[in-house]
Amino acid sequence: MGRAFVYVIVGGGVAAGYAAHEFVKRGVSHGELCIISEEPVAPYERPALSKGYLLPEGIELILRTRVKSADVRRKTLLTGTGETISYKYLIVATGARALRLEEFGVNGSDAANVCYLRDLADADRLVNVMQSCPGGNAVVIGGGYIGMECAASLVINKLNVTMVFPDAHCMARLFTPKIASYYEEFYQCKGVKFVKGTVLTSFDFNSDGTVTAVNLKNGIKLPADIVVVGIRIRPNTTLFEGQLTMEKGGIKVNAKMQSSNSSVFAIGDVAAFPIKLVGETRRLEHVDAARKSARHAVAAIMEPEKTGEIDYLPFFYSRVFTLSWQFYGDNAGEVIHFGDFYGNTFGAYWIHKGHLVGCFLEGGTKEQYEAIARAIRVKPRIEDLRRASEARFGICIVF
Ligand code: FDA
Repeated sequence: MGRAFVYVIVGGGVAAGYAAHEFVKRGVSHGELCIISEEPVAPYERPALSKGYLLPEGIELILRTRVKSADVRRKTLLTGTGETISYKYLIVATGARALRLEEFGVNGSDAANVCYLRDLADADRLVNVMQSCPGGNAVVIGGGYIGMECAASLVINKLNVTMVFPDAHCMARLFTPKIASYYEEFYQCKGVKFVKGTVLTSFDFNSDGTVTAVNLKNGIKLPADIVVVGIRIRPNTTLFEGQLTMEKGGIKVNAKMQSSNSSVFAIGDVAAFPIKLVGETRRLEHVDAARKSARHAVAAIMEPEKTGEIDYLPFFYSRVFTLSWQFYGDNAGEVIHFGDFYGNTFGAYWIHKGHLVGCFLEGGTKEQYEAIARAIRVKPRIEDLRRASEARFGICIVF
């Protein structure tokens, strides 16, 4: 049993949705494009975890179907239902999966009140568990994006929230200690408690296998009615191990999002692609990169002569409570903070090898965010660090 398509996308997340949208915009004929996703719904916007259906008719949508193996030499995929799908061009948009506690030697992740958050099914489950323990104790493991955003939601839903993470401060991969302390104080005012510099070592369970408490390495025991785990992700590359070149834990692609096999492209969280600004290949776990890499791959497939090299400016953002920040570029080098850390608008910029390479801004206007993005793209030379640090606003230095 088998079917053949010109274009096949494996994965049904953000990048897959945007790639499909781009194919349709550029014109694909009925039956030329197929999406295979193990999820039960069409691709949707993951950050909102809402179902923004992107797909018009004419695309073969194979849902609830896992691709079990791939043969890039033969240009075929084998699905869990035993069907062989062949392609002329393959786009790998398999994203990443949440790392489980078991991978850090802690058992009990399958308990009914331990939640992860990657897809719609996870989100539904989390909401159900949260609603089953009104006013209860929530422990959030991890101080990154997922941890911070879930902690905010849980406290808004009137749970007693404690965040636990090994780093000295939240969002350790991006925030400076000064930026982090602003958000931690804000969270504390909302009732969130922090236990930093330690990790979870085990759970206590009741007789029906539900977690009742978490035990930390520093000896603290925290009672728990719900545990939410956000401890990073791992790219879903297994199908292509040994067949495609890997880098930074993902599938290595060139500036046209093309892998070491010229018929296979990779996009979104699973792709490691060249970032001109920093002059190296990186894998970015962010929605904007998923959208733009998807569009670029489709353009490179459909109009190879007209499509240049991707020049992606790394962009991260988050919105929690009344707060909202954006970051552009790279957080390397020396940091200079600016703005009012006691008010609503502040930020930091990063200067590396004499150039402005990154900027973070909380509480900016649309125009200010656009200005910092433009500034980072130009990557201006900063002659005088001292003068730079005296400026009230990072962007004043550039314009
Ligand atoms: P994504 O995970 O979206 O999709 C992968 C798809 O592949 C899934 O449908 C999966 O089922 C499927 N799949 C995998 N293996 C398969 C197989 N073998 N066969 C068939 N299907 C397979 N980013 C940001 O910049 N700002 C933000 O605020 C947030 N917020 C946020 C909240 C939450 C809750 C999450 C989970 C993530 C974010 N992110 C984010 C990150 C952002 O959502 C992420 O970068 C994109 O979803 C990446 O899109 P992809 O399409 O690469 O992976």
